[in-house]
Amino acid sequence: MKKYNISVIPGDGIGKEVMPEALRVLRAVADIHGGLKFEFDSHPWGCEYYLEHNQMMPEDGLSRLENSDAIFLGAVGYPKLVPDHVSLWGLLVKIRRGFEQVINVRPAKQLVGIQSPLVNPRDFDFLVVRENSEGEYSEVGGRIHSGSDEIAIQNAVFTRKGVERAMEYAFKLAEQRQGYVASATKSNGIVHSMPFWDDVFRDVSEKYPDIKSDSFHVDALAAFLVTRPHTFDVIVASNLFGDILTDVGAAIMGSIGIGPAANINLNGKYPSMFEPVHGSAPDIYGQGIANPVGQIWTGKMMLDHLGETELGDKVLEAIEGVLEDGIKTADIGGTSSTTEVTDAIIEKLKSVCKV
Ligand code: NAD
Ligand code: IPM
Ligand code: MN
Repeated sequence: MKKYNISVIPGDGIGKEVMPEALRVLRAVADIHGGLKFEFDSHPWGCEYYLEHNQMMPEDGLSRLENSDAIFLGAVGYPKLVPDHVSLWGLLVKIRRGFEQVINVRPAKQLVGIQSPLVNPRDFDFLVVRENSEGEYSEVGGRIHSGSDEIAIQNAVFTRKGVERAMEYAFKLAEQRQGYVASATKSNGIVHSMPFWDDVFRDVSEKYPDIKSDSFHVDALAAFLVTRPHTFDVIVASNLFGDILTDVGAAIMGSIGIGPAANINLNGKYPSMFEPVHGSAPDIYGQGIANPVGQIWTGKMMLDHLGETELGDKVLEAIEGVLEDGIKTADIGGTSSTTEVTDAIIEKLKSVCKV
């Protein structure tokens, strides 16, 4: 019997609604397989925990997660309770940084059964490799003075090592896909970091002569994701640009509630973390209408990472089958609840695994 130890952090808002659903799917996967077991170790960390303990996770939180095979996270943030800069630095970003999860991979592709909001959609299937440890999300900066003299400073910090490894990762993925990497830049802006980003991109691309490479200003690239997303394969982007482009990616799939993501630790010292692109959606929390697809598809990415790619593929097949049957939440034009969609995915999983 193969056993995977998964640390689970449902987090805040709809994270607490979609996580139990994704765990139900993973349990069904294990049942169907028969020779595989998930040990879920769940942690109630998040904004409510903060109100009680004055911290988002316990002091030894990271060491409690450290030995797991993967971390499965819902969403963090509930700004009405705790300011975002406190909740996110205290949990989500703390894990990403503490466990050197330097790459964030976010696929976007047209799923069978979902109407894209694009007027003239063509099949698209691209992956965004987002630099996940530095750039515009550096820890350098702060607020000084006060009142009308107040100043806020944020220094973007790009290191050759950090940029290079994200780009290497993108080129290696492109080798297994359509052989094309597009870089999101802004070297026409008055910033020092992006000409540097472009230099590193040129250097890395020279090592991959068989891979086609291109650079786009990020503003134009965001527009192209709307007008011609089918022309992209792998996109490599800085932390902030990647964040924005991947919400666009999820939106053109049909909803922010669908996009999956993986925070990858490359050196094998720490676990990787799997969390959907969307956040805690306080506006719909508690209504039972959150789309569970993003969390469940993220579970598929976790299965792939654990080496269970066949099972991962079955999960995506089940998701698409259910969407094709018209069983969907309201954000993608359906009337089904979070639980109804998950029930249907589990039933579909049983049938796609039979054949
Ligand atoms: P959000 O992604 O939570 O919501 C944006 C919009 O998309 C909302 O209208 C919401 O209802 C909708 N939506 C999101 N997920 C959905 C789903 N599964 N099904 C149906 N609709 C869905 O982004 P936001 O409103 O900017 O942020 C809310 C909170 O979440 C903030 O505290 C933010 O910082 C946090 N956040 C956390 C993460 C994370 O933990 N990875 C990611 C993004 C935002
Ligand atoms: C995401 C989120 C986070 C990010 C926030 C909540 C810090 O938007 O994972 O996409 O920007 O990385
Ligand atoms: Mn985001």
